[in-house]
Amino acid sequence: MKINDRLKKIGDLVEANSFCLDVGCDHAFLDIYLVLKNQNIRTIASDVAEGPLYHAFENIKKYHLEDKIECRLGNGLDTYSDEVNTIIISGMGGRNIIGICKNHLEVLKKVDTVILSPNNYQIDVKKFMCKHNFYIDNEELVKVGKFIYQIIVFKKGRKRYSKKEYFFGPKLLEKKGKLFEEYYKRELVSREILIKVLPKNYRWKKFLVKREIKLLKEELT
Ligand SMILES: C[S@@+](CC[C@H](N)C(=O)[O-])C[C@H]1O[C@@H](n2cnc3c(N)ncnc32)[C@H](O)[C@@H]1O
Repeated sequence: MKINDRLKKIGDLVEANSFCLDVGCDHAFLDIYLVLKNQNIRTIASDVAEGPLYHAFENIKKYHLEDKIECRLGNGLDTYSDEVNTIIISGMGGRNIIGICKNHLEVLKKVDTVILSPNNYQIDVKKFMCKHNFYIDNEELVKVGKFIYQIIVFKKGRKRYSKKEYFFGPKLLEKKGKLFEEYYKRELVSREILIKVLPKNYRWKKFLVKREIKLLKEELT
């Protein structure tokens, strides 16, 4: 089955023998990739909307994977069940992801791995998860077309991070590389534009953006 590099990368970060809950599965491409790749992975493919879940179910049937992937219709972590040890939420805004997790903090206490790929507000997502007893075990950047996506693997446990680590991602800072440079150069350019257009009275916002520009300039070669 053909899936895009972003979903493939997420799939490749899932450990063998995991029981996953894929929240917002859409067409269930990730779920199908996961169970085809690894005999021992099971997933619940869940979505809040009937349309996507219908397509998910049709795709799962096409690959005869009904015994390995269960479809559940429901909002966020409402579809959790006790066998799940890994939650995956990708392709949504960071604030939506935080909202989904906040609604079921008891679920976060039960699972050991959460893989998130927020489209924005990544720093807020990292801070939220670390406040709720997770640390950042791995991070990846992946480019699809002109977009670069962040994927973050959280594991149960506590670690403290500096402002700089929250901003860039502690694991991304360790690995760096060409995509890191490209991603954060774009972040620098967008902030340099923002600082020019912010009205004079946005002094606090300007202060925060300038601080981020400084961080970015120090880190980029
Ligand atoms: C842009 S798609 C992303 C699909 C896939 N996860 C990916 O990364 O490509 C977002 C999907 O999340 C679903 N969704 C949005 N909010 C949700 C929520 N609160 N609970 C469950 N699914 C949700 C939407 O219906 C949609 O199918």
